[in-house]
Amino acid sequence: MTTEYPLGALAADPPYLHPDYVATRTRSPQKPLIVIPHTLSELSGPVYGHESVRPSDSDLTRQHTGEPLGERIIVGGRVTDEDGRPIPNTLIEIWQANAAGRYIHAGDRHPAPLDPNFTGAGRCVTDADGRYRFVTVKPGAYPWKNHANAWRPAHIHFSLFGASFLTRLVTQMYFPGDPLIPLDPILNAVPDMAARQRLVAAFDLATTDPEWALGYRFDIVLRGRAATPFEEPWR
Ligand SMILES: [Fe+2]
Repeated sequence: MTTEYPLGALAADPPYLHPDYVATRTRSPQKPLIVIPHTLSELSGPVYGHESVRPSDSDLTRQHTGEPLGERIIVGGRVTDEDGRPIPNTLIEIWQANAAGRYIHAGDRHPAPLDPNFTGAGRCVTDADGRYRFVTVKPGAYPWKNHANAWRPAHIHFSLFGASFLTRLVTQMYFPGDPLIPLDPILNAVPDMAARQRLVAAFDLATTDPEWALGYRFDIVLRGRAATPFEEPWR
């Protein structure tokens, strides 16, 4: 069975061009997009990785011989459609900086230390109720040269794979109370203030593990009035 997906951005999504987010000035399309109809192969696949996801892939603090430095946290929530129905069996991948604000990436020149016990990537598959859960460390803020004295608020990148390649969605989760949030051009590219707030996780005592780690709840809604903003405006 295949499903047609709407082409184009939804109201909650940021536009291609948001001049304060400097990289969008050169990478945004200069001409109207040409809509190419979906093909059967796009609508039916491919789907990556579900078979090989291990339970340990969702614990970013146990991927090396020692524990990473930083504040251990739990991030969990539900993936639902616009009517609150769960989206099961969705591959969620996350990537993030370490507690010092540094990525394991050749392009990251931030003079902060790498952590030999932290790669910063994890994945899991949503259960029958659309739930997911990661254990990780709280990422640090990092500078990014977008403008003078520009710092990204602490954030975790999320990618969701649905039933086919066309249903990949990418977004970022932020932490409540971060003073850098109002200054962030990437978050401010989301046109609607209420939609921006949906990218900020909530501290959640129910997700918090006593004597172990604070918990944050980040629910993801795929469309509708409460839709989570996504960076890639194709759904
Ligand atoms: Fe980032």
